[in-house]
Amino acid sequence: DWTMDAYREEAVRKIREQVGASKVICALSGGVDSSVTAALLHEAIGDQLTCVFVDHGLLRLNEADEVVAMFRDHMNLSVIHAQEQDLFLGELEGVSDPETKRKIIGKLFIDVFQKYADQIEDATFLAQGTLYPDVIESVSFSGGPSVTIKSHHNVGGLPEKMGLKLVEPLRELFKDEVRALGHELGLPASFIGRHPFPGPGLAIRCPGEITREKLDILRKADAVYIDQIRKHGLYDEIWQAFVAILPVRTVGVMGDGRTYDYACALRAVTSVDGMTADYYPFTHEFLGETATRIINEVKGINRCTYDITSKPPGTIEWE
Ligand code: XMP
Repeated sequence: DWTMDAYREEAVRKIREQVGASKVICALSGGVDSSVTAALLHEAIGDQLTCVFVDHGLLRLNEADEVVAMFRDHMNLSVIHAQEQDLFLGELEGVSDPETKRKIIGKLFIDVFQKYADQIEDATFLAQGTLYPDVIESVSFSGGPSVTIKSHHNVGGLPEKMGLKLVEPLRELFKDEVRALGHELGLPASFIGRHPFPGPGLAIRCPGEITREKLDILRKADAVYIDQIRKHGLYDEIWQAFVAILPVRTVGVMGDGRTYDYACALRAVTSVDGMTADYYPFTHEFLGETATRIINEVKGINRCTYDITSKPPGTIEWE
């Protein structure tokens, strides 16, 4: 795509002009926006860029290794893999209130990012994957009262706190343009087309108390569900899909025995921007097959439900 090619060259030129010989740090989440930001900066300034990938222990199966391997080994970026699972899961122990969970994770994320960023000598810039819709939204919100439904987990406020200047090379782009740019920069299509994943991760898909046991079960169930969706060729039709593990155990039968295990809910929605959403109309066949696979393959789950709530009145995530 020639337009994206021209945009890429122009963006590289602007980054070099803004950053000069300074060092830049970037919080890499593995999401599309931060991934494209990191790839673009790397192209512009090479090893003046260091990425910090915060592993809060709330990621999907194999996710941390895949993201780190891709950026470090495949794309040659300098990536710090901050292994802070014990810190996050420790602070979250016994906490079941959704807003409290979000606040704990948001605060720890900033602390951890700052700790690692402090180790990078004379960093002057923080790179962020802010998109055009984010810019508009923050402008229109400042004009009137806004209703906060859920605390948002991001690194807002971090640059001021750390005395860093911002570099935001995606500020003029919409999501589909970011994907096109990512493609130009050589990010694999499977990566660019990934469903969105929330900053607080699996914490908000595990209503009630978070335990390592529940997270392990959830990761396995989610992997089976996404595998089913891919095998049926539905991944790209769905805006976001995931499993939530419910804070309730139910009775079942398996072989000659009684089971008493967790119930889970499958969620899949279509959406344009995440502000409104409809549940995805899977066939009964698909749902039945998926439930059977999850219950057979994932120890700890003996019941599957499908969430048919639209947004509004529901939200996409369970918390
Ligand atoms: P809800 O649940 O509010 O989610 O309908 C709308 C979209 O936003 C994602 N989401 C988040 N993303 N930090 C993020 O980066 C967050 O704290 C957060 N909370 C929700 C959610 O996955 C969905 O795509």
